[in-house]
Amino acid sequence: MSEASIRLLKADDGPTVLAIYPLAFPDEDLSKLVAKLLTDENVLSLVATTREHAIAHAAFTRCGSTNGSARLALLGPIAVHPDHQRDGLGKGLIEDGARRLSDQGVNELLVLGDPDYYRHRGFDAPASVSTPYPLKPEWAEAWRSRLLNFNERATGTLTVPKPWQAPELWG
Ligand SMILES: CC(C)(COP(=O)(O)OP(=O)(O)OC[C@H]1O[C@@H](n2cnc3c(N)ncnc32)[C@H](O)[C@@H]1OP(=O)(O)O)[C@@H](O)C(=O)NCCC(=O)NCCS
Repeated sequence: MSEASIRLLKADDGPTVLAIYPLAFPDEDLSKLVAKLLTDENVLSLVATTREHAIAHAAFTRCGSTNGSARLALLGPIAVHPDHQRDGLGKGLIEDGARRLSDQGVNELLVLGDPDYYRHRGFDAPASVSTPYPLKPEWAEAWRSRLLNFNERATGTLTVPKPWQAPELWG
């Protein structure tokens, strides 16, 4: 992770962070979701920076479950500027976020994403908690869990704050 450092999002990072997403995801428009997540009180937002300029971002949304009192967080989206991919920034953001959430008492981190990438980032099992809306069958493998200082995966259905309450984000 050459010269980059990781810190919490600041208010004036917003435009720089929003500009990374269309470059990292040329075929997907995540701007509305990301804009909502950047200002949502349930979201931990981290940026990787060089000389204070954001070049990567990850959002971690605190969630719950319909079954019990598990404290969960949903990772995503995460985007690294194409000029800086494969340099450890994605890994660094995920590890930093996992550490902070674990320190805050979060039990489990969930992700809906490329299983090949996330399996190597500690998301070593399918999630046991169901998604809030039906998943496309071909995405079943992509719904994964990483335990944080805890040995039991949540069950029931994930409860999510407003930005994630949209079926099209899930299926
Ligand atoms: C996917 C993404 C977040 C990964 O971040 P990154 O900083 O480029 O990747 P890292 O350097 O942290 O990768 C660490 C490891 O994962 C591997 N890796 C990176 N991208 C991968 C991919 N798409 N599939 C499988 N493995 C991948 C690397 O080879 C590296 O392996 P190593 O630790 O054994 O050396 C970033 O490339 C990105 O923003 N891509 C475009 C948007 C996207 O797909 N976002 C994720 C879906 S929400």
